[in-house]
Amino acid sequence: MACHVWSFMAWVVTSEAAILLTGYNRWGNFSQNPSGEVAEALNGSVVEDLLIHSIRIDVSEAGVLEASQMVRDGLWDAIVHLGFEDEAKGLKLETMAFNARAENKGPVVPTGPKLLPTTGDLGAVALNTKNPHELWSRDAGTFFCNEIYYRTLYQLREREKPTARCRGALVPCLFIHVPPLHQLPLKESSSFVFSLLGDLIRASGCPRTRKWFHAYG
Ligand SMILES: *[C@@H]1O[C@H](CO)[C@@H](O)[C@H](O)[C@H]1NC(C)=O
Ligand SMILES: *[C@@H]1O[C@H](CO)[C@@H](O)[C@H](O)[C@H]1NC(C)=O
Repeated sequence: MACHVWSFMAWVVTSEAAILLTGYNRWGNFSQNPSGEVAEALNGSVVEDLLIHSIRIDVSEAGVLEASQMVRDGLWDAIVHLGFEDEAKGLKLETMAFNARAENKGPVVPTGPKLLPTTGDLGAVALNTKNPHELWSRDAGTFFCNEIYYRTLYQLREREKPTARCRGALVPCLFIHVPPLHQLPLKESSSFVFSLLGDLIRASGCPRTRKWFHAYG
């Protein structure tokens, strides 16, 4: 009897475990949006046994709300939002989000804290990443990139949403600004984001139970 329960759990964990990766569609006068290109390039890849599920959204309120809905409805092990920054020299890891909607529409959550820090363990990222282009940022801007980040962090922290693998821990979430493709080619941007995802997952502190389930379930 117990054996059946464990087998079922192993199946659930394996099928649900996933990373949500969002990037944007083309916007304004720019001919492409590297954030969306990177998200698309990594779609379907597997990091630390977790499937990357990518979506591309519009640079708009509707796009941000679409991503929020995915965050709310899914059982994600990690959530990474990508955005495009025209002037970024490398990948910019955004350490926090500010409680403000894009286009001066006021706070995202009127009663929410002014700042919400990332739920990812950036200490582990700094130790593991061999990324010469890595930059740290305390300001994700005042546009939809900041808004999407705040919305996700608020949901994760407010609801203490458990991860699929690790009950009780906050889901690691990070926002990464991607530079123009002529500054950092798609292949390099993608491989850096891929390695950062691995760092976030490994640093989330959850025991790797899945293999055990497979072996004994
Ligand atoms: C797009 O280009 C036009 C003409 O150069 C300019 O007026 C406009 O401000 C640009 N829009 C954006 C979003 O950069
Ligand atoms: C990622 O792959 C899934 C499954 O094939 C697909 O439904 C989704 O549209 C893809 N996302 C992007 C951004 O291409």
